[in-house]
Amino acid sequence: MTFVDGPVRVRVPATSANLGPGFDTLGLALDLRDELEAEVIADGLLVEVSGYGAGQVPLDERHLVVRAMRATFDRLGKQPTGLRLTCKNVIPHARGLGSSSAAIVAGVWLARELVAGGRLLLDEAALLDLAAQLEGHPDNVAPALLGGFVISGQDADGSFWAVPAGVDPRISAVVFVPSSPVSTEAARGLLPAEVPHADAAANAGRTALLVAALSGRPEELLRATEDRLHQSYRRSAMPESLALVEALRADGVPAVISGAGPTVLAFADGPDSAATEALLARCPQGWGGLALAVSDTGAVSA
Ligand code: HSE
Repeated sequence: MTFVDGPVRVRVPATSANLGPGFDTLGLALDLRDELEAEVIADGLLVEVSGYGAGQVPLDERHLVVRAMRATFDRLGKQPTGLRLTCKNVIPHARGLGSSSAAIVAGVWLARELVAGGRLLLDEAALLDLAAQLEGHPDNVAPALLGGFVISGQDADGSFWAVPAGVDPRISAVVFVPSSPVSTEAARGLLPAEVPHADAAANAGRTALLVAALSGRPEELLRATEDRLHQSYRRSAMPESLALVEALRADGVPAVISGAGPTVLAFADGPDSAATEALLARCPQGWGGLALAVSDTGAVSA
């Protein structure tokens, strides 16, 4: 196995998981991308970070992109002599917009690109499986890798799968990003070990409806984004976010907690529409409001 000369680059989109009822299974890629570059060097590890995480994330072997790269090199059979990595982060950290999945997908992608013939050694399914193993659940890494709207899960043997599904081109998103983070670990810790059968049944129906709503029946999005399995249980970690979801939904806007929160995602009808402008005007003071198109593409070499 040999490494390629010179730098390789990747751009990876933000993602919103769950989308209401599809806990740990539905995810959507959004048009907001981290940009990364990596190169094999003679020795050592040089990591540079700008944007989100600069001055906060460790610049050594603990860096999430580096860990994902190391795992991929191990899978491919050899570590490089040295490594240089540059990360330009525009996806907010610990806000429910898939920044850690973007880092993992970037890492596995860059490592594969640095290996001569890497795409033949590790196909898309193997790359997805590796990224999902590193993240622990597939609902962010799958759309980060494949783009668009993706249904994903894990089989009994532990392997992960992902199936892209259609998104009506009329559908876009507005995200409301709070100023304070919530860790996914903390948000997952609030979930009960068991849920009432009626709640599980309600979510199963809504999840199925959401696939239809996103693929061409946007008028069903409000009903289809109802959730009974995770959002309310997480209220204590993000009370303002839950209050915004409820206020928007009371006004007929299909709004959900994005991933493990605390960002709120509302479905809209195009980044430049009047409805999107009206939604952005509802952004709470001190939060960031962004109108984002659905990203049809996932990770791409840049
Ligand atoms: N499905 C995950 C959760 C997404 O809600 O915990 C966060 O990564």
